[in-house]
Amino acid sequence: MNVTDAVNARRSIRAFRPDPVADETIAQLLATASRAPSGGNVQPWRIYVINGPSMERFRSFIATRPIEAPAYDIYPAGLTEPYRSSRFKVGEDMYATIGISREDKPGRLAQFAKNLDFFGAPAALFCFVERQMGPPQWSDLGMFLQTFMLLAQEAGLDTCPQEAWAVYEQAVSEFVEAPPEQRIFCGVAIGHADLDHPINSLVSQREPLDVFARFL
Ligand SMILES: Cc1cc2nc3c(=O)[nH]c(=O)nc-3n(C[C@H](O)[C@H](O)[C@H](O)COP(=O)(O)O)c2cc1C
Repeated sequence: MNVTDAVNARRSIRAFRPDPVADETIAQLLATASRAPSGGNVQPWRIYVINGPSMERFRSFIATRPIEAPAYDIYPAGLTEPYRSSRFKVGEDMYATIGISREDKPGRLAQFAKNLDFFGAPAALFCFVERQMGPPQWSDLGMFLQTFMLLAQEAGLDTCPQEAWAVYEQAVSEFVEAPPEQRIFCGVAIGHADLDHPINSLVSQREPLDVFARFL
């Protein structure tokens, strides 16, 4: 698989098969992903892996914890166009794959709650960054994440990045024993896609080039 194939094949997977993933595989992917660039080579990513027994313990643990105030603004308040419509559309398209209508609030909440189960994935990352770090280092973490997800794709694994964990920062920090100077960015579910599940039929759309790039 070349890089273009990996970029085109990666999608956010929201239903996984239970097939296990070896710690060694995840360790190898993380080590290679750390070749991602970062301003000043600061390498601000701090990663916690849960897999197998620790995933089982985490699932029991998180079921006892209440939702928290978001650790950060997941979207800007009053998100403007065209970003607002793009966000709205992917949500509508996703719920349409599983037959959940706009009015079906309980259905939508139940789908959101699947984030807490990592959509059935056997393994996951929690991605943290120190509180001293600003937008440039958060961007570095994003590059690390995409590098990891593309390498996972090459290794035959599927992923879903999850900002949903921003509403469980305290609980996750307690479980992974993150030091107080670290804050959560997101989780990443890792495993093998259940390709029979209709939610995985979603192929999100992209803006045409002239919306986001201008040649001068
Ligand atoms: C940092 C980040 C956090 C995300 N958080 C969530 C999440 O909590 N739950 C979810 O279902 N999808 C989440 N997504 C997936 C996005 O909805 C998805 O990337 C977008 O719709 C584009 O679709 P694609 O990843 O399939 O190309 C997240 C994506 C990113 C990059």
